[in-house]
Amino acid sequence: MAGEIEKVAEWIVCSKRIVVFTGAGLSTESGIPDFRSPGGVWDRYNPEDFDFQRFLASERSREKYWQMATEMYEPMKKAKPNLGHLAIAELERLGKLDCVITQNVDGLHLKAGNSPEKVIELHGTALSVMCLHCRKRYDRDEIQERLRSGLGAPTCDDCGGPLKPATVSFGQAMPEKETAEAFLRASLAELLIVIGSSLVVQPAASVPVAAKQNRAKLVIINRDPTPCDRIADAIIRGPAGSSMAAIVEEVKKRIAQEA
Ligand code: APR
Repeated sequence: MAGEIEKVAEWIVCSKRIVVFTGAGLSTESGIPDFRSPGGVWDRYNPEDFDFQRFLASERSREKYWQMATEMYEPMKKAKPNLGHLAIAELERLGKLDCVITQNVDGLHLKAGNSPEKVIELHGTALSVMCLHCRKRYDRDEIQERLRSGLGAPTCDDCGGPLKPATVSFGQAMPEKETAEAFLRASLAELLIVIGSSLVVQPAASVPVAAKQNRAKLVIINRDPTPCDRIADAIIRGPAGSSMAAIVEEVKKRIAQEA
């Protein structure tokens, strides 16, 4: 693996437009379970209970959704950025990050120090709540407080519409601006590094493919195989945090030697 670390570090040093693409596997080392590993979220909950149409269908299904979402929010609230998040923030400080496109809704790239304009949250964020009718925004902790006082499914103070975490559920429209921006930046990238994603959920999983189709080098850092392994230029089958930290350390060494 050391050879791959050096190779990827060299590619970063030689590239101008570097995009990082992250999934839940980057945040497991911060104590947030991923979805498809053994013991992950979809081992404990039925994804259909999180379907957007079901959320809209009834007050009861919204109450059930909020109960599960509250359980999933707890580890996120306490989570701290890990070595992997900090390494990606360091890449930005080194002037070596065009943007980080994330499927994660935990806000850890921002907490790690990446600039908001460099972070594209494809699946939204669990740190805020939105009214589905008037789109008014609420702080997630404020709504969690209301839920703790026994409220079943929160509604908007202004229009009475149903409130939902500002995340993208199955069957819910993707955020147009973020999705278009993600595919544009991937198609302009010289190097795209995937960290901690099974690359099975569309359209997000097509972002690395868009980079590859436009002549970028593709690197995948992931514990398990992914459908994009066959088009990857380098695969690091290891822990996301320490692998990315080792790569960025190697980049800093090379930049210092060239100075
Ligand atoms: N180091 C490296 N890889 C890891 C680690 C780790 N510490 N922990 C987990 N992984 C890998 C797993 O092997 C798995 O392939 O991360 C991947 C996580 O895959 P998923 O759980 O499917 O997460 P993700 O790819 O982000 O899911 C995409 O699916 O349910 C939806 O909206 C949800 O955004 C999510 C989307």
